[in-house]
Amino acid sequence: MSGDELYRDPLLYDLEYDDQVEDAVYYARIASQARGPVLELGCGTGRITLPMARAGARVTAVDQAAAMLERLSDRLVSETQDVRNRVEIVRANFLDLGFEQRFPLVVLPFNTLHHCHTHHDVLALLRGVRRALVPEGRFVLDCYLPDPSLYARDPNARYEERVFVHPHSGARLQSWEAGSYDALTQIHEVRYIYRHPEGQERTVTLRLRMFYPQELRALLDWGGFRIVHEAEDFEGRPLQAHSLKWVLVLEPR
Ligand SMILES: C[S@@+](CC[C@H](N)C(=O)[O-])C[C@H]1O[C@@H](n2cnc3c(N)ncnc32)[C@H](O)[C@@H]1O
Repeated sequence: MSGDELYRDPLLYDLEYDDQVEDAVYYARIASQARGPVLELGCGTGRITLPMARAGARVTAVDQAAAMLERLSDRLVSETQDVRNRVEIVRANFLDLGFEQRFPLVVLPFNTLHHCHTHHDVLALLRGVRRALVPEGRFVLDCYLPDPSLYARDPNARYEERVFVHPHSGARLQSWEAGSYDALTQIHEVRYIYRHPEGQERTVTLRLRMFYPQELRALLDWGGFRIVHEAEDFEGRPLQAHSLKWVLVLEPR
């Protein structure tokens, strides 16, 4: 397991991220245009899987977190039979892919690359993706670009206060983000702190490895991929020095 507690609470995950739509629209569009089935790595609770399947794509949805996959299975129940038939759920580590099947499109959405904490992880991922792709296939991912303003924050302070209602318990929660950045490992540890009305607190941690642009370009090159297209968002705006997001369309060299 990646040790990321957020993935043990899929309801909380959905509460945090279900209102994100730009990426889901983008991945649904490219999946519907793919000439064959799509391999999705790090599918989670299906935030991207379901729109891709609704758009007509057959999706092999891979994740290692059992709780996230259970939630995806639950969500599939309310889909049409056609959509259900188009999704195959596979519990696996994407650093050790061993599919016999070949795919014209492999996707790694929503910053999931940052769960590769070392360059060995990135190269293992790329090796597996290369094997899973047909020769002229595409590998599409989106990730963060480093944001120095976040890493300069006081690691003991709390930021981004919000109040919301937990969908399961109905409790009115207060939440904050906190974090610390290790410049040697380039891991940004993000802590989400939730306070219940009675005062008890729960902290959920995500450890995200950040990649500097030239570093990731070199890793992609070593891993045998060429950048076909890159943008700072899902509308295709050109990447700039201050971009905080990177959408990459890659093909095997
Ligand atoms: C940021 S979430 C993205 C989930 C979903 N794609 C979305 O957009 O909401 C990252 C997902 O990757 C999964 N994950 C992280 N490392 C993994 C690994 N080595 N193998 C398989 N899944 C992994 C986590 O369990 C989590 O569900």
